[in-house]
Amino acid sequence: MTEKTRGRLTTRTIAMPGDTNPSGDIFGGWVLSQMDMAAGICAGQRAQSRVVTVALDSMSFIQPVKVGDILGVYTDIESVGRTSMNIHVEAWVRRGRIGRREKVTDATFKFVAIDEDGKPTPVPALEDLPAYALEGYFDVGE
Ligand SMILES: CC(C)(COP(=O)(O)OP(=O)(O)OC[C@H]1O[C@@H](n2cnc3c(N)ncnc32)[C@H](O)[C@@H]1OP(=O)(O)O)[C@@H](O)C(=O)NCCC(=O)NCCS
Repeated sequence: MTEKTRGRLTTRTIAMPGDTNPSGDIFGGWVLSQMDMAAGICAGQRAQSRVVTVALDSMSFIQPVKVGDILGVYTDIESVGRTSMNIHVEAWVRRGRIGRREKVTDATFKFVAIDEDGKPTPVPALEDLPAYALEGYFDVGE
């Protein structure tokens, strides 16, 4: 059975030659950074505030990413605490822009909502969010 993506497509980008390690494959830190950005977009929309990454569970790279692949990052809100949110993140590639989609890695990122002073602040209840924050986004997970 073909594996399916989980969550919502949050970012897409092309792996470029400048993102490679000395052997010519895409640097793992670049993929991690793309995942962190996508998780931050998801967490910020849910919290409607600034957010910071506080923790990341173990992550293994299942497949390499190559120059020219399109990297798509999917995010799904796994759980919400008082000030923190666990975001499940999956990175998939389309080989050479047009090929079959393959999962390259997944992980769970924990973000904390912060106020203007950088202190943790409560994540609002879903029913307290403005309608524009909910549009098409939080139909999965929580
Ligand atoms: C995130 C940060 C504001 C939390 O501050 P803090 O004083 O530890 O706050 P608290 O103890 O009140 O914890 C806040 C929440 O974070 C969670 N948390 C804090 N440290 C954690 C850790 N190491 N692992 C997992 N969760 C953690 C707590 O469980 C709590 O969750 P809850 O409110 O949903 O129950 C602070 O640790 C920080 O600024 N870290 C740096 C973040 C950053 O710069 N990230 C980018 C790195 S380049």
